[in-house]
Amino acid sequence: MWKPPEKIRFESTLGHLPDRQALEASKLFSSLSYQRLQLQNRSWLPAMVPWRATNGGEVTPEVVDWYGRFARGKPGAIVVEATGIRDVPSGPLLRIGHDRYTDGLRSLVDRVRQESGGETRLFIQIIDFLSIRRRIKAEKYLERFLVITDQHRQILKLAGASDAEIRQVLMTLESEDLKRVLDEREYKALTHGAREMVNDTHLPHIADLPQVLPQLFADAALRAQEAGFDGVELHYAHAYTMASFLSATNDRHDGYGGKRHDRIRLPLEVFARVRNTVSEDFVVGARFLTDEIIDGGSRADDASYFGVEFARAGMDFLSLSRGGKFDDAKRPKVGASAYPYTGPSGYECMPQFISDASGPFGRNFADTAQVRNAVRDEGFETPVVVAGGIHNFEMAEAALSSGEGDIAGVARQYLADPDWLLKLKSGRGKSIRLCEYTNYCEGLDQNHKQVTCKLWDRTELDEPEILKSHDGKRRLVAPDWSAE
Ligand SMILES: Cc1cc2nc3c(=O)[nH]c(=O)nc-3n(C[C@H](O)[C@H](O)[C@H](O)COP(=O)(O)O)c2cc1C
Ligand code: SF4
Repeated sequence: MWKPPEKIRFESTLGHLPDRQALEASKLFSSLSYQRLQLQNRSWLPAMVPWRATNGGEVTPEVVDWYGRFARGKPGAIVVEATGIRDVPSGPLLRIGHDRYTDGLRSLVDRVRQESGGETRLFIQIIDFLSIRRRIKAEKYLERFLVITDQHRQILKLAGASDAEIRQVLMTLESEDLKRVLDEREYKALTHGAREMVNDTHLPHIADLPQVLPQLFADAALRAQEAGFDGVELHYAHAYTMASFLSATNDRHDGYGGKRHDRIRLPLEVFARVRNTVSEDFVVGARFLTDEIIDGGSRADDASYFGVEFARAGMDFLSLSRGGKFDDAKRPKVGASAYPYTGPSGYECMPQFISDASGPFGRNFADTAQVRNAVRDEGFETPVVVAGGIHNFEMAEAALSSGEGDIAGVARQYLADPDWLLKLKSGRGKSIRLCEYTNYCEGLDQNHKQVTCKLWDRTELDEPEILKSHDGKRRLVAPDWSAE
């Protein structure tokens, strides 16, 4: 992952531990009720892909165990990892694009209900993504995949040359010359692997996205409801289809791109179709970006506009993230695919302990507050999930009391210690394992390996019946620390 050049090291701290009175008076431990969203406390485990589904996208015992372990720590809400809405192969990522997935998902729901004693609300993040190809060797790309155009002929001053002749010439060029001849998109496909974008309206299936996505999302949400989830989180963040519609880089000319008003059109149509399909008490919210952190991307002003319109449309919550785009991703090795969390925008999404003067804790708070203020100024009380580096009571409480958010999104700290909230509640705060923000977990995610935490994945490996990683060297869920 990219790191800020300043390379300043930060350390997580336990902060001030609350006594009983402080706990009782706290925002974090207070309940929340808005429209259909009812939380017993305001800690929220945002979506984290653990790479535990089958290659067909089905729930496995490892998936159930993963969420069961989090549920034992009784967060206010858990959002199940990004889950694909289409019935197409996508490797070991969870899927919800067909009724055959419903039973597996129901077993996950049942386990979460049982482990949390019904205290944790359970949502599932539903996602659409476009195709991305692995990077191939330059010769292969120039020989077989690049579409030769008159633009190439013109720049090479080879009017009338055949495609084969142009390819031959291109294969003799050095990288700088290739950059001059190929357009930006072609050069990126050569260096990073080709990927589809929402702007590719010359491709019929991309042109048709506004026609097909509302129903695909609605069908997925209905399946989530049938499986017993309390609601869905529409994934409108990071590098994926819906975020690309919201992006300032979306220049579709079919009424779904260009100005903010048109960029938000499909996300609102998807929400409306989902809302009209599921039952009245089923929660529907969205995760989107405060700032895309890419050149020409959307900023907090855009996000504020989106937040207000989502609130006006009746969403039950707004969850804010940051960055995580393909646009600035590192060049992958030949044979690998680009990964959206490897560039500066990826850093902003999951900031690491080696940082700049702003540090890894709370980098998204000010922008989240801006979005929340815009929503409040328009008279909407829609709860906002604020996230990024929250790892102790003091920090969560400060974010909630100062109006940066209404719910504390805590991803890696929950992974480091699924019991952190329970420990605070029972006065055992000193035994909380603090996330070190080294992003060991994220490195596993990037390599599509089962995600674990370095603080616990080698401990008590001989415990009977624990599930281990494929190589048998790591345990897949945190040990039981209830006695600590
Ligand atoms: C291993 C891993 C997988 C993630 N997967 C998702 C995901 O599926 N969907 C999503 O919106 N965010 C995902 N994220 C981002 C987190 O939800 C969260 O926004 C980010 O880690 C920052 O919060 P934190 O500092 O509390 O960890 C993932 C993060 C990690 C570390
Ligand atoms: S591996 Fe554990 S300690 Fe390291 S960043 Fe991930 S959750 Fe935090």
